[in-house]
Amino acid sequence: MLKAIQIIAITLAGTVLIGTFALIFAESRWIDPNPSSPREYFLHGSTGTELMPLAVFQVLPTLFPEQFQPAGNTAGDFIDQFGFVRGAPDAKYGLPYGVNVSRYRPKSGAPSPIPFVGFNCAVCHSANFERVGQPRGTVVLGMANPRLDLVAFGDAIRRSLLDENRLTVPTIAATYKSLNHKSLSFTERLTIRYWLRGARAALKADLPMRGSPFSGSKLRDSSLMPSGPGRNQPMMETVRFLIHETPDPNGGASKIPCLYQQQRRQRAQFDGSVGDPLTRNSLAALGVGASVYNLRVPGILGTMQQSYIFVKTLDGPRYADLNGTDAHGPDQARVQRGHDAYMQYCSSCHGWPEEQNWTSGSRQGQVIPASEVGTDSARVSFRYYADMGTFVDAFFPPGHPLKPPVGDIHALPEAERGFITEPLEAAFTRAPYLHNGSVPTLAELINLKPRRAVFYRGRSEFDPDGVGIVVTEQPDVDHYFRYDTSVYGNSNRGHNYPWPYQGTGWNADTLTDLLEYLKTL
Ligand code: HEC
Ligand code: HEC
Repeated sequence: MLKAIQIIAITLAGTVLIGTFALIFAESRWIDPNPSSPREYFLHGSTGTELMPLAVFQVLPTLFPEQFQPAGNTAGDFIDQFGFVRGAPDAKYGLPYGVNVSRYRPKSGAPSPIPFVGFNCAVCHSANFERVGQPRGTVVLGMANPRLDLVAFGDAIRRSLLDENRLTVPTIAATYKSLNHKSLSFTERLTIRYWLRGARAALKADLPMRGSPFSGSKLRDSSLMPSGPGRNQPMMETVRFLIHETPDPNGGASKIPCLYQQQRRQRAQFDGSVGDPLTRNSLAALGVGASVYNLRVPGILGTMQQSYIFVKTLDGPRYADLNGTDAHGPDQARVQRGHDAYMQYCSSCHGWPEEQNWTSGSRQGQVIPASEVGTDSARVSFRYYADMGTFVDAFFPPGHPLKPPVGDIHALPEAERGFITEPLEAAFTRAPYLHNGSVPTLAELINLKPRRAVFYRGRSEFDPDGVGIVVTEQPDVDHYFRYDTSVYGNSNRGHNYPWPYQGTGWNADTLTDLLEYLKTL
């Protein structure tokens, strides 16, 4: 009897041991090999923001057309309607740029038996440069995507996940089968069941802080979803992430910046609050849901490090690369005169290009107080502005590879807070202008034309006359987002260089020359 028990116990222990080794072996093979170059990391690396199993991401648009096609089923799929960039190279499953597939489990970063999707840097920091009549456009890496409405997309997803009647393992499995003509495996079903339970609980726990997600046509209502295309609310999201509270005032919306030649920037973020290059990237990942654990995982930490290497020396495109030599191509006589105007009125703050380099102006890299430059100050006056450095420091435990150097995130005294002066490589691709994206064209920014107080945004094709993006006075399916400059954080005032519109010294001819020169940056 005793002998029998011993044998059973030994056999059991042996089986458990073999099982454990088998699992460890299997786990080590679940993770795909790491990307092979900084560019590949930027395009396909995981930033630790694993959102949901790939299979679920594939079925959601079919299960919830009212959320994923809020403008109706004739206005394109979710890629069109939320402004993602279609057709990433080597992307599997027809996913757009920046929606990466990995084998990391959400939050922990532990190996997963089934693939997950997440967002990486390329989802916001790559764009399709389109011209009216040429919707296929050219994809530019590092350019900010002026169309992407990621905050609204987030609500579409949350709304769908919270629907306990329509989103169940059986409905996911049935939709998956009808789309892919194959069934979900036992492991897939099991993992999805486990994940869905956890994801739902987490979303419900967040409802008091975030409120219920908006739905359907409300996703395009700017009075409810104030950030809109090409922007998000990074300060509010980061505070929520770090201390689980919605700050009030919340800092408004920031436009996504272009990331060309990051090595030329001494400090980053629109307010110049962050120094260390890695901190710039890890803050971005935290804002979209990475965790302190998974940011240690080599494949994910690698994306943070390698993506920076990619954007460090990334050149912006030239005007002719994207527009050919059309009638709007820079007029050389005007360019020459415009160069002189630029050197006189702009170069001290923004520097100027010289051969392959960018020469710094005397005030370049300085934070110009909001009271001096005169642009909207919500971004530098939200609740907890001065505490951000302390919050981030407390978040990362000692020795964490992404812990910012002491004092790296700094808050200037209130009167000195403002916006950093930056080089303007490929200025024509940076529209809409200013940190809040309140000025659609360069012609308006330099006050050659009056700035528009209300306009509609969405598709964001290039505007070769004003040099910027096309916006409309009346909404249509492609230009749905009402940008009202009187709303908190949206003001288009300030930066009246060289002169206020039709103010003292104002000279339309000089400004037309300057506009021509700006195309050549
Ligand atoms: C959800 C969209 C989004 C994602 C994803 C994202 N960023 Fe950003 N990024 C932003 C926004 C918005 C800002 C501007 C923040 C501010 O200052 O208000 C920004 C700022 C930056 C800056 C500072 C640029 C400058 O010149 O000041 C860097 C560098 C950067 N991001 C790199 C990255 C990297 C690398 C990744 C991937 C790890 C990434 N971002 C992912 C939206 C995003
Ligand atoms: C006193 C310093 C100063 C001078 C002079 C100045 N700028 Fe600026 N510029 C800034 C600051 C600061 C910002 C950022 C403001 C913001 O985002 O709110 C900025 C933003 C810009 C932007 C928007 C960049 C983007 O990504 O949205 C452009 C374009 C620009 N300036 C062009 C010019 C031109 C052209 C001139 C000369 C007519 C000029 N600036 C003169 C300080 C200056």
